[in-house]
Amino acid sequence: MAYRSALSITVNDELHHLELDHRTTLLEVLRDHLDLTGAKRACDRGECGACTVLVAGQPMYACQLLAMQVRGRAVVTIEGLATQEAFRPVLDAFVAQDGGQCGFCTPGFAVATYAALQRLPEASVQELRWELVGHLCRCNAYDKIMAAVQDASRRQQPTSATAVMRTEP
Ligand code: FES
Ligand code: FES
Repeated sequence: MAYRSALSITVNDELHHLELDHRTTLLEVLRDHLDLTGAKRACDRGECGACTVLVAGQPMYACQLLAMQVRGRAVVTIEGLATQEAFRPVLDAFVAQDGGQCGFCTPGFAVATYAALQRLPEASVQELRWELVGHLCRCNAYDKIMAAVQDASRRQQPTSATAVMRTEP
C-alpha cells in the first residue's frame, strides 16, 4: 500500500502544491510532475551527477532525495539558473568551449560548476576538479568540460578595471 501526502515545494521561485507517494524522488517531481527536464535521469542511483540541482543553495543529486525531504528548502534547477545573471559566466563558458559532446551530463556539470564558483570564486584548477568529483561524462569529454569550467572561472573574475569601478561610489 502506497502512502501519500500533500507537499508544497518551491522550485525556481515558484510554489507548487502536490499530492505524492512518499517514495517519489525529487528528480521524479521535477521531471514527471513539473516538466523540468534539465536535470537528467541517468544512473538514478547517485553515481553520475546528471541529476544535480541546488537545494538550499547546495548541489545535490535529485535522484537520491525523496521529495518529502526537501520540504521547506528552495530547489533551483538548471532552468531556474538559466534566467539568472550570476549564471551567465558558466552558461557562456560551456557554449564557448563546446563543453560537452552529447550534452546529457552538461546540466549537472553546469549546476555544480556554478555552485563551486559561488563558494570558491578563486579556486584553482585542482580545487575545481575536486568540486566536480562525483560527476561522470559517458562521452569522456572531460577535457572540454574542464576547459569550460576554467573559462567560467575566468569570466567571473573581476578584471582590474571592473575591480576599480566597484570601489568607486
Ligand atoms: S541520475 Fe542522479 S546521480 Fe546519476
Ligand atoms: S557529453 Fe555526453 S555524457 Fe557528457
